[in-house]
Amino acid sequence: MPFAYGQTFKDALSKLKREGRYRVFADIVRQRGAFPTAVHHTQNAAKPITVWCSNDYLCMGQHPKVLAAMQEAIHVAGAGSGGTRNISGTHHFHVELENELADLHGKETALLFTSGYVSNDATLSTLARMLPGCIFFSDELNHASMIEGMRHSGAEKRIYRHNDMTHLEELLRAAPPNAPKIVCFEGVYSMEGDFGKVREICDLAERYGAMTYLDEVHGVGLYGPRGGGVAERDGQMHRVDIVEGTLAKAFGVMGGYITGTSAIIDCVRSFASGFIFTTSLPPAIAAGALAAVRHLKSSTAEREGLAERAGRLKGLLGGRNVPVMDSPSHIVPVLVGDAALCKIVSDELLYEHGLYVQPINFPTVPRGTERLRITPSPLHTNAQMDELVAAIDIVWTSLRLRRAA
Ligand SMILES: Cc1ncc(COP(=O)(O)O)c(C=O)c1O
Repeated sequence: MPFAYGQTFKDALSKLKREGRYRVFADIVRQRGAFPTAVHHTQNAAKPITVWCSNDYLCMGQHPKVLAAMQEAIHVAGAGSGGTRNISGTHHFHVELENELADLHGKETALLFTSGYVSNDATLSTLARMLPGCIFFSDELNHASMIEGMRHSGAEKRIYRHNDMTHLEELLRAAPPNAPKIVCFEGVYSMEGDFGKVREICDLAERYGAMTYLDEVHGVGLYGPRGGGVAERDGQMHRVDIVEGTLAKAFGVMGGYITGTSAIIDCVRSFASGFIFTTSLPPAIAAGALAAVRHLKSSTAEREGLAERAGRLKGLLGGRNVPVMDSPSHIVPVLVGDAALCKIVSDELLYEHGLYVQPINFPTVPRGTERLRITPSPLHTNAQMDELVAAIDIVWTSLRLRRAA
């Protein structure tokens, strides 16, 4: 009997559907100048909705300076970059953006990638291959891209309980003292909304001779006086060896990067397959990101607006006993605790109330902790917020979902 290829794929999908974890993408068109609204396309209709789960946290994806820079770059340089960085694909926009990012993080050099995912995967896999006997120490909630990078390196990995410094120290102490070590962690854990312990991790890394690798994907643009991230806010930037970030969230465009010493960054540039063998970002993307990074270095209005909006939303939801998870950051996670229910809640909000909040299920979060992940922005109005809170209250009541104590 030949192998049942078709059935194998169908079975895998059926299992996902049974568990309520099958991903359905909402087909939307964002409305420039009318953030956070969009038009939702279904088979029979196109309806206006309000988006409550965008990672364009500061609305920079529609900022006039960003759009003007992108339009100008297309005008000057055309659409694509035309090659890998090594073969005709290094544009002046890339060089300027790398300089700007190195400055943002107070590091010697920066290197761009096509996404934050690729930057983590390419950098971690390359670093550990260059350090014989290297051991990774990884927070259990680290993002999939870091996990893949560590796996691709083939290096040993020890996982410490989320933000548990006692556990991290135990693992560091137990490792051979002269083995190269890299502690990998995040500035903001995007599904929990809590902060990484940058200072404590740097203390431990110093004590045990480890390098530090900090993913600031959900922190850059958002924290610190110039938007350098949680490490900047905490005055720890100079102690972190490699800071990784994205241009796709607070900076509103797309792409990823790392910053660090010239020697480290030059090694990644010279040896990382995920950097070398792929076409570079289009010039317009780099130009848009450059405008966003520059703007957020000096403008604090967006950061302050977001903090105020997130605080108000948490207060309103808490006031209705909706189980908002404890999150000190701009992210507002609401616990549902069941994959199928989480999807139903999200569908009701979208189809009955025109409010888009994507369900977050396993493997993005552990089973039993399925949640809505609400991301307010500086541009969500009081009226839009009141509408969301009222709709969530209705859905919670109609589905008899667990309320906060
Ligand atoms: C913590 C973290 N790191 C890296 C990434 C990947 O970034 P990008 O979307 O730029 O690929 C994400 C994406 O959501 C993330 O949450």
